[in-house]
Amino acid sequence: PNPYNQLQKFCLLSFSEKLLVLTVATEETDGFHRFIRSANYFNYTVKVLGMEETWKGGDVGRSIGGGQKVRLLKEAMEALADQEDLIILTVDSYDLIFAGGPEEILRKFQQANHKVLFAAEALIWPDKRLADKYPLVRSGKRYLNSGGIIGYAPYINRIVSQWNLHDNDDDQLFYTKIYVDPLQRQTLNMTLDHKCQIFQNLNGAVDEVLLKFGTDRVRVRNTVYDSLPVVIHGNGNTKMYLNYLGNYVPNAWNYEHGCRDCDDDVVDLSQLKYPNVLVGVFIEQPTPFLPEFFQRLLTMDYPKDKLKLFVHNNEVYHEKHIQKFWEENRNAFNSFKVVGPEENLSQGEARNMGMDLCRKDATCNYYFSMDSDVMLTNRQTLKLLIEQNSTSPLCLVVSRGVWNIPYMAHVYLVKGSVLRNEMKERNYFVLEKLDPDMALCRNARELGIFMYITNRHDFGRLISTANYNISHYNNDLWQIFENPADWREKYIHQNYTRIFTENYLEEPCPDVYWFPVFTEKACDELVEEMEHYGSWSGGKHEDKRIAGGYETVPTDDIHMKQIGFDKEWLHFIREFISPVTLKVFSGYYTKGYAIMNFVVKYTPERQAYLRPHHDSSTFTINIALNNKDRDFQGGGCRFHRYNCSIESPRKGWSFMHPGRLTHLHEGLPTTNGTRYIAVSFIDP
Ligand SMILES: *[C@@H]1O[C@H](CO)[C@@H](O)[C@H](O)[C@H]1NC(C)=O
Ligand SMILES: *[C@@H]1O[C@H](CO)[C@@H](O)[C@H](O)[C@H]1NC(C)=O
Ligand SMILES: *[C@@H]1O[C@H](CO)[C@@H](O)[C@H](O)[C@H]1NC(C)=O
Ligand SMILES: *[C@@H]1O[C@H](CO)[C@@H](O)[C@H](O)[C@H]1NC(C)=O
Ligand SMILES: *[C@@H]1O[C@H](CO)[C@@H](O)[C@H](O)[C@H]1NC(C)=O
Ligand SMILES: *[C@@H]1O[C@H](CO)[C@@H](O)[C@H](O)[C@H]1NC(C)=O
Ligand SMILES: *[C@@H]1O[C@H](CO)[C@@H](O)[C@H](O)[C@H]1NC(C)=O
Ligand SMILES: *[C@@H]1O[C@H](CO)[C@@H](O)[C@H](O)[C@H]1NC(C)=O
Repeated sequence: PNPYNQLQKFCLLSFSEKLLVLTVATEETDGFHRFIRSANYFNYTVKVLGMEETWKGGDVGRSIGGGQKVRLLKEAMEALADQEDLIILTVDSYDLIFAGGPEEILRKFQQANHKVLFAAEALIWPDKRLADKYPLVRSGKRYLNSGGIIGYAPYINRIVSQWNLHDNDDDQLFYTKIYVDPLQRQTLNMTLDHKCQIFQNLNGAVDEVLLKFGTDRVRVRNTVYDSLPVVIHGNGNTKMYLNYLGNYVPNAWNYEHGCRDCDDDVVDLSQLKYPNVLVGVFIEQPTPFLPEFFQRLLTMDYPKDKLKLFVHNNEVYHEKHIQKFWEENRNAFNSFKVVGPEENLSQGEARNMGMDLCRKDATCNYYFSMDSDVMLTNRQTLKLLIEQNSTSPLCLVVSRGVWNIPYMAHVYLVKGSVLRNEMKERNYFVLEKLDPDMALCRNARELGIFMYITNRHDFGRLISTANYNISHYNNDLWQIFENPADWREKYIHQNYTRIFTENYLEEPCPDVYWFPVFTEKACDELVEEMEHYGSWSGGKHEDKRIAGGYETVPTDDIHMKQIGFDKEWLHFIREFISPVTLKVFSGYYTKGYAIMNFVVKYTPERQAYLRPHHDSSTFTINIALNNKDRDFQGGGCRFHRYNCSIESPRKGWSFMHPGRLTHLHEGLPTTNGTRYIAVSFIDP
């Protein structure tokens, strides 16, 4: 059976539309799907030629070729040659989108008053020697581009029926030779769309075009000819720019409505079986808050038995963190594989290995790659990304819309089927001297695979790994400047903000305020840090650390300055203590300044209590760092003037009281175990 009989029938049925789009595509690439979406949006009638064929037309992106397109068009036109009123629009598809509809094209074509109209561009290709043969144009683009042709069916047929070359010969050269022949140009009534009324080729013309946002639609405007072209063609080296335009045109996004077609492909995972995901984790440099990174992975809202874990750790420093997580959670996941620093893998090799694990495993539906500096605060992230089901395989998360982008890094989701088909080679992360993520992106782009980012939800943030000093014992304590959000989450008490929203604080003695400030972790890590440092002062009167060298009421302590934590501690005071001061001692504006910042250790064996004294401060904070009855017995604080004692300090809670005159106080004896407190004399 001749397929073109069917085509003819089809055309007769839609004859009222008068315009038939013919395109050649041998593969359903992402670019092809984008073309079809834009064509469907405007209700074009499109016939795709060549889908069951192998491409033999050469690498048109880099050299000549494309003859196969003419051959297919010639075959298709045979059946349409006698339809005098039918207008054929033949365009490329992988790198082309429509910005307007069929009525507009037909109107503009009629205005051009020719039987055949070709796209035009300022660059001549492939044979520069033909330049002189082109008719001169006073303004506009002079040379033919074969990516877009519109004309009456009999005329198009008369052109393409001249084809008798090979599939890998050049289509543009073929059309050019016909066009520059003055006789043919006249008899076939051909011209070029010199001023981009219909066709906009982007090659060499990226500076000419702008996006124009309308109420329903986004268009491309050619600012040189003041035209609104209908067919936008990312020819030559402008694929990335077309991808950018395609994020908006024709109606993907606008200011008023935001993202239009973002929900088109969304699926509801709760209605489906959860797909299997291989999570690749890459720890390529010392990274703050790694235990928290793993906790987030564990608490992600996704069935753990559907998750396999592959961890590449390049840092000896992190082995203890991974070991701990592995011991506690190895059975939580479907599988758990760690490749450590002893393997001495390069980043590229490690990433290839992770991706390959999914590729080789036919049950792996998705590969989710995450670098250790990615803090996914949104527990739904993986679900949301899978539900987005972009027609395309790659997604990058950033901080509303889904965008086609040239590069991505840090975290992305790839369909397993893509790894086993379009990306079945194995070495995408190693390319020249490129960073591995850049290498992946370049490879994906060259394969015509679109990568999308989505910012339709808040997914999380990136940790700063710069200036991470790992020479301390608990290094995250020092991250208050570099990663304040993560520092706060790890170290500031869950109910701290309720002080301000719900008056969540107590006054156990007059003008002694008591409020939550530190998490258990903050307390534990600070104590560990001090014990790791180890040089407790011994509670002697002679003290070289302070001005004057003599302390009248000495404690057994270590100063924050001694562990290099004074700047961080003062910042903590300004960020988290000052607001409380303003609340409870209203009208007093603290400078948040303190010289004496230290951790005190009370134990019956060394120093168990502190005699009544005043502090050299405007006010003092005193944070309990461990638990009464679990870690020690006794302890507490007594304020003499008010005959008032607080005997059950709470771990992570701080007292705040005036330092001089009214608040003579003493440290009550610790009778067993060891009690730790952190103290600052603020505004001395
Ligand atoms: C395409 O056709 C549909 C159904 O006839 C119509 O609702 C829609 O408005 C058309 N689209 C355009 C852009 O004209
Ligand atoms: C081309 O065809 C149009 C009608 O479609 C006619 O008006 C015009 O004169 C023709 N031009 C030439 C150069 O033959
Ligand atoms: C690790 O690999 C690098 C380069 O691949 C090599 O220079 C280095 O000697 C290797 N180190 C060890 C300990 O094998
Ligand atoms: C996701 O998209 C692909 C390709 O567009 C489609 O084949 C598949 O059916 C979609 N999945 C679901 C669950 O809708
Ligand atoms: C890291 O911290 C240690 C100990 O406080 C200090 O000696 C060292 O200078 C710091 N390194 C950097 C690069 O800041
Ligand atoms: C915060 O307050 C709530 C309600 O009072 C309590 O259940 C929770 O344990 C508190 N959080 C912490 C860390 O103490
Ligand atoms: C202090 O308070 C205790 C009970 O809390 C009471 O027994 C004692 O008499 C008080 N002392 C003074 C001097 O008021
Ligand atoms: C002191 O604490 C230890 C454990 O912390 C406990 O075994 C012992 O019984 C305690 N002694 C007294 C006198 O409470």
